[in-house]
This record gives sequence, C-alpha cells and structure tokens, in this order.
Amino acid sequence: MQIGKCKLEGHTVLAPLAGVTNLPFRYIVKRCGCSLVCSEMVSAKGLLYNSQKTFSLLQTTPEEKPFSVQIFGSEPKEMAKAAFIIENTYISQKNSNIDKSDLFKTSLLNKEEESNKIADIIDINFGCSVKKVVKTGAGVALMQNLSNAENVIKAVRDSISIPLTIKIRSGWDSSGTQAFKLAELAQRNGVDAITLHPRTASQGFKGKADWSLIKQLKANMSIPLIGNGDIACAEDGLRMIEETKCDAVMVGRAAMSNPFILSDIELLLSKKKDSRKAKYEQDSVYKPIYYTNYHSSYESSESSFRSSEARYKNRSIDEIFALMIELLKSCVDYFGELQACKMMRSRLVWFVKGYPECSKFRRDLTNIESMAQALEIIEKYQHFLRSKKVFDNFESMAGQGRG
Ligand SMILES: Cc1cc2nc3c(=O)[nH]c(=O)nc-3n(C[C@H](O)[C@H](O)[C@H](O)COP(=O)(O)O)c2cc1C
Repeated sequence: MQIGKCKLEGHTVLAPLAGVTNLPFRYIVKRCGCSLVCSEMVSAKGLLYNSQKTFSLLQTTPEEKPFSVQIFGSEPKEMAKAAFIIENTYISQKNSNIDKSDLFKTSLLNKEEESNKIADIIDINFGCSVKKVVKTGAGVALMQNLSNAENVIKAVRDSISIPLTIKIRSGWDSSGTQAFKLAELAQRNGVDAITLHPRTASQGFKGKADWSLIKQLKANMSIPLIGNGDIACAEDGLRMIEETKCDAVMVGRAAMSNPFILSDIELLLSKKKDSRKAKYEQDSVYKPIYYTNYHSSYESSESSFRSSEARYKNRSIDEIFALMIELLKSCVDYFGELQACKMMRSRLVWFVKGYPECSKFRRDLTNIESMAQALEIIEKYQHFLRSKKVFDNFESMAGQGRG
C-alpha cells in the first residue's frame, strides 16, 4: 500500500493511543510485524511552546520506520508550524543497532547530521472526543466546522512535503455525512490517505463501529482508506477488508492486549495472496531481543480451558511471556526503572487478561519498584499457568495456525 510517497509493506496500522503507543510499545508491535506505527497525539501548541514533554512524544528510532506523527489543534497557522517543526526534526542514527541496550537513547536534532527525518507521515487528529480536547475546538470538534477543517488541512499541506493523512470519526450524527464531506475536501486539498473510525463524536467508544460507513466512503474515494474500529481478533481485520474493501486496517485496543494481532492480520491476508505467503509466515515468527530462562519445555495434555484463547491462537507461551518481558525491559531502558515499573503495574496484565488468577497477578504487580521484582512475579505466574496446563490448548492450536 502506498500513502503518498511512503510505501507500506503490508496493510496494517497500529492506532495512535495516547498514553500507550510510546516508543517501546510501538517498537514491539513493529517487530511483531506491523506495517505502520503512529505516535500518540501530539499537541501543536505544546510544540510551539517548546514543551519538552511534548517533544519527547516525537522520540523514535530508525527500526520502527515508517513512523506517522499525529498532531492535534484547531488553529490553521499553529498546526502548520507544528507540522513544519516535525518535518524538520531529525533523529541521530548513531544508536540504531538493536543489540545495544541504548536502542531507545537516540537524540532528536534540529538539523540533518548522519540522520533521518523523524516522521514519514503527518496525521491530523479529527477524531478525539475527549472533552478537554473538544472544548478547544480540536479533535472531533473540527468536524463540526468544515470550513476551519479545510483551512487546517490546506495550511498543514502547504507547510510540509511528506505525506499527510487525517483520522476522522463518522461525525456528530450517525449518517456519516460529515465524514463524507470532510473526506471529499481532504482529497481535494492533497491529503494522501484517510482513516475512518465510524463512531459518532458522542459515542466515544460505546456501541458498535458502523463498518458500512467505511464501505460507503471507500466506494467514493480515490486515495487510500484505512478502516478502524472494533477489530478484536485477526479474523475481524480480514473481515473488515473483505466487507468494506478498505486498503488497510488500523487496530487500537486489541493491540494493547495482543501486540501480535497486526502480524496475524498480515498473515491471514498473505494466505489469501499466495505470492506473499512465504514472506509473512517467516516474518511473523516473533523473535525476542531479550532472551530469558523461560523457554523450558512442558508436557502436553488435554485441557478444558477455552476462555480468551482466540486472542493467541497462533502463538506459544514462550512468545507471549517473552513479549511481556521485552516490553518491561524496553520500558526500563527508555523510561528508567522506577517509572517503567509504575507503568507496568497495570500494563503487564493486559497480555493475560481473562486467564486464571490474572487478578492475583495484577495484585502482585501493584507495588513493583524494580525489574527483578517484576520478573519474579512474571515467572511465578507463568509457572502457575503451566501447572494449570492453560496454554497446552494454544500450543496445539499454534501448530495448526502456522501450517
Ligand atoms: C487509550 C486510548 C487512547 C487513544 N488515543 C488516541 C489518539 O491519541 N489519537 C487518536 O486519533 N485516537 C486515539 N484513540 C482512538 C484509537 O486510535 C482508535 O480510533 C479507537 O480505539 C478505535 O479503534 P479500536 O476499536 O481498534 O480500539 C485512543 C483510544 C484509546 C482506547
């Protein structure tokens, strides 16, 4: 798939998720096998006021490229300046060797020096429905005022040469009319692709995403359309592409508890297209950077465990726990031990949501302050799940899934 001059290897996009899609998380999803990763939303004002916290959201590494940076705001001039700053920020490539523990310690430069532009794509947020954002006229509020929306798009388009995308909702009512109008004016003003999350502004995340709007919009667009909303498993991703004919799918919440989901979607798509099959089957085997002692073998047996198994049906216990540990270690490298541990108190459990005694696992993690403590708790829980033979079912399914 092609977004302007940016070529994507496949058809999957990790959604921008504020507070979640930081560099360590994105990098893991990328390595699992995803075509495009997006930053958390970045405040245009924050960049203009030189906020270090805002600038830290731009931190990237060449290994996660292509990288899309999402901005939000409502003033055309501010948005254009912010986009210009992003396009003209570069990353030092000196630390790009993935074997080094300083993978994430790259630095941002304001001039080109053995370096790359940080952003391959700039995305404008037209979908955020959080009150704090909407009351400033940004996010989905922009969909209420299409003439200002057009001014924002034109100003940003004129200020950058890299591809420009927008991420929209269906609008302020369920008809989709505002989305169709906005898409038409975006296309006319040089936007290179659109993502549609077909929920209304007031829906937030309630109800169901109306995929029929993705289908209708796709039928009337000449630029690529990325479909988003309610993809809970890889099969849903394939179904969205088949039902709506969208060019790619974006996954948010499901990737938080299963970073493999995007590569699993790529795998299903590649099985449909034989020529790409071999490549993706090979690439989709996740290889952790940090090897652990968690790779011992375990006996197989009949298991009656069923709940949540669809999430990981192509995956082995080693992959899931290795990934958890990789996220922990990467966050420690990136944020420092204490801050990473505080984040991991609630996040590690996402990977095993629905498994026996995961609430005890969550409680055990509540006060972790060191990586050693976290690793001990993870190992204990993994042994517990093995003793319950919870994963035996996946192990046999994993064999089938890969075949
Ligand atoms: C925790 C969280 C943070 C989000 N942050 C952003 C954001 O920064 N920018 C954005 O455009 N959408 C954001 N979204 C919306 C998602 O990108 C996505 O459109 C939505 O979750 C629907 O996709 P899903 O059903 O795959 O989760 C966020 C959603 C969640 C749950």
